[in-house]
Amino acid sequence: MNISETMEKYSKPMRFLHWSTAMIIMTLLAVGFYMAGIDPDASDKYDLYPLHKAFGMIALLLVMIRLPVRAKGKVPAPAAGLQKWEHNLSHLVHIGLYLAMVSMTVSGYFMNSTYQYVSGVDMFGLFSVPDITAKSEYWNGICHEIHSFTAWAFLVLLSLHLAGVAKHRLLDDKESDVLKRMI
Ligand code: HEM
Ligand code: HEM
Repeated sequence: MNISETMEKYSKPMRFLHWSTAMIIMTLLAVGFYMAGIDPDASDKYDLYPLHKAFGMIALLLVMIRLPVRAKGKVPAPAAGLQKWEHNLSHLVHIGLYLAMVSMTVSGYFMNSTYQYVSGVDMFGLFSVPDITAKSEYWNGICHEIHSFTAWAFLVLLSLHLAGVAKHRLLDDKESDVLKRMI
């Protein structure tokens, strides 16, 4: 688990990766639900799709960097004031968040890759990230289902995550404050 008893905070790379992925993913969740909810006949229906996809690919890259950094680097031991159940629950939520990050980004990329009316992901007009699968209506449907389901799971996990951070910061003693370990 690479736990360090002497570290008081997460390392700089971990903090940078946490906040950059958090910002992008929270924005993508809001934009994703908004754009998917627009009437299919509206003239602006597809205006946000290219931006959503390009930032989604940046999120994919950040997640691919974050996983090995987390696996190989050290993290601080659990905050001293936490009770056993709080530690176990936060650990479960963190695992869920990592799974959701992978599922969301990979299903998005595969959804685009299997979609027969587009080719690659345009990165702000600069270059295109190529498809990695054959076109398939069947697999496009599956990836779409996974993307939508994970989006809802993400909202639940994120709510638990934020509730935990707020509780330890606002209601518990100083020993339990985890926010100062991530800023
Ligand atoms: C962590 C990254 C991502 C997040 C948080 C995210 C979030 C969302 C959400 C919340 C929706 C609406 C789901 C629904 O109501 O059905 C959505 C839809 C969509 N996402 Fe993502 N997304 C991410 C990455 C990607 C990537 C990498 C791509 C493609 C390269 C992508 C392509 C799409 C498309 C095409 C839709 C619209 C599907 C439809 O029309 O129903 N997303 N996304
Ligand atoms: C999409 C958004 C977010 C995701 C995916 C996310 C994910 C995670 C993950 C996976 C960890 C565990 C780090 C590890 O041990 O590897 C973590 C820790 C943490 N996150 Fe988030 N987070 C998000 C948003 C936020 C926000 C908005 C806040 C603050 C309000 C926050 C505060 C924290 C804190 C304080 C920790 C350290 C917890 C501890 O020391 O036990 N996170 N986050």
